[in-house]
Amino acid sequence: MNNANDLNAFLDEAWVHLALGVTDSSSPARYPTFATVSPEGKPEARTVALRGASRFESVLEIHTDITTLKVFALEHNPYAAFHIWLPKADLQIRLTAFVEILTGADVDLQWAKVPPSSRVSYGTVPPPGTTIEEAYAYKKPAKQNRFAVLKCNLKEIDLVHLGACHRRASFVCHNNWLGTWLSP
Ligand SMILES: Cc1cc2nc3c(=O)[nH]c(=O)nc-3n(C[C@H](O)[C@H](O)[C@H](O)COP(=O)(O)O)c2cc1C
Repeated sequence: MNNANDLNAFLDEAWVHLALGVTDSSSPARYPTFATVSPEGKPEARTVALRGASRFESVLEIHTDITTLKVFALEHNPYAAFHIWLPKADLQIRLTAFVEILTGADVDLQWAKVPPSSRVSYGTVPPPGTTIEEAYAYKKPAKQNRFAVLKCNLKEIDLVHLGACHRRASFVCHNNWLGTWLSP
């Protein structure tokens, strides 16, 4: 039987779900909420697709268009948060990350792996968020020079498990991940 007091096992469980989010499009971890802070200090949250998860590097990866507001926000404040709710596992995962915006030759490898049908997500004209006259008054050319990889270096992980008795733990990354139980 699992030891409910095992912090490492709790963290392991979260990483299993993060890895599944990358490979299994039916996992709720596939589409986290990703929150940034605007230059005016306002919170901004949106759905993104999880494209990479490396426990070894403590990194999650998102792909986006460099003209989106999230990139503008991250240029002013590189900290972001993820939120994932896994209803079958009764698990909430919240993550804080320091985000590097990678573009150009640094993301050639990732661009090569983006299927042509998905490349049109990078290059919309006019840029995402621009006012348009009609619902479909835009074009979606695929533009590699608009493609960005958000390398999200994880700094904090907060887990809440809803069981007969709830469990909550916080993990902070210094050189290693240090965890502690929290009152839920
Ligand atoms: C299911 C789903 C997945 C999405 N995946 C992404 C994504 O991976 N990257 C992205 O930039 N936007 C993605 N979007 C669109 C964003 O939610 C958002 O509308 C867009 O990026 C503009 O956001 P921003 O102006 O706040 O940056 C997704 C939307 C949905 C509904």
